[in-house]
Amino acid sequence: MSIPSVLAEAASSRSRTTTSEKDKQIPAPQVLETIEQHVLLDGFKIVVDLEKSRGSYLYNAVDNRRLIDLYGFFGSMPVGFNHPYFDDPEVRRDLLRAAKVKIANSDVYSEGYAEFIETFERVVGLPPLERYLFIEGGALAVENCLKAAMDWKVRKNMAAGHGERGTQVLHFRHAFHGRSGYTMSLTNTDPRKTDLFAKFDWPRVSCPHIDFSLPEPKREADVIEREQKAEREIREFIEQRGIDICALIIEPIQGEGGDNHFRGEWLRKLRTICDENDILLIFDEVQCGMGATGRNWCCEHFDAEPDLLAFGKKAQVCGVMAGPRIDEVKDNAFRLPSRLNSTILARLLRSRRLDSSFG
Ligand SMILES: Cc1ncc(COP(=O)(O)O)c(C=O)c1O
Repeated sequence: MSIPSVLAEAASSRSRTTTSEKDKQIPAPQVLETIEQHVLLDGFKIVVDLEKSRGSYLYNAVDNRRLIDLYGFFGSMPVGFNHPYFDDPEVRRDLLRAAKVKIANSDVYSEGYAEFIETFERVVGLPPLERYLFIEGGALAVENCLKAAMDWKVRKNMAAGHGERGTQVLHFRHAFHGRSGYTMSLTNTDPRKTDLFAKFDWPRVSCPHIDFSLPEPKREADVIEREQKAEREIREFIEQRGIDICALIIEPIQGEGGDNHFRGEWLRKLRTICDENDILLIFDEVQCGMGATGRNWCCEHFDAEPDLLAFGKKAQVCGVMAGPRIDEVKDNAFRLPSRLNSTILARLLRSRRLDSSFG
């Protein structure tokens, strides 16, 4: 991929040569060919210098130019490069502590883990979603929402004498929820990401996002009509598949599917449909959450509350927040050991200085 010249500029002659540069074993011009020997090289043909990159500017070590970073690592960059708080010795100490060892924090607890949870809850907590699971990767965050919902619905069905069923997940066209096992049955954007892999036949309905290309007076009437169509599709699936549907999942703003926005009325309608039909509502905020829309969580703009919320990217750690409906089932996946787990749940870090400046 080439970079448009308008986004790049030659770095000033004042750019510093850092000490670490002298010790570099692989010089910048050889980085790409070294990687390509073992790894598919289909990204930008740049080599980021993490010392010289500053704020919104990414420094390309190959041609000594600064690029305006409009990419932000798939939207996962929480603040600009080399934020001055990282110069604070206390922050550096915290970072080093977290970097030295990846604890299997599913089994072994640490002060860092407790500090992180306390800070996470205080800064971005979304009551009443008070059960947490941390995990590496946005797809796995979504996947664990699905597992929790399946477990919840199947246990309810079994208790009601309907047998071991209730694992289907209702979702929308143009959705992107990741590329892991379960999430590939939901993702339907670029077929190259899902073709030929095993997938489940889960209910997929049309996506009533606002069409901003329409003149304003027509926009609302158009979206309401498409919301009504999507609602009919959802209700038909519920009619046909009934107790086999455990969850309905939506990105409050679709990301990869086209920056598609919904009305608050629609998200609240989904809340009502889920409540009426004993289905869990999942918001995938891996892309649109963690401050990306001006609030901590996108759903806070719409007064719509999910039962499970998946987060990742800018949080620098991925995971799930679960609300009280999950506790309708006593032995749910957040309460019984071994149901949702992984060796290294995540590298968890709370820095006193950073969280006080952003919190
Ligand atoms: C809405 C959404 N969900 C899930 C994911 C998957 O996250 P990850 O790439 O960290 O697995 C993404 C990634 O772009 C996403 O945008």
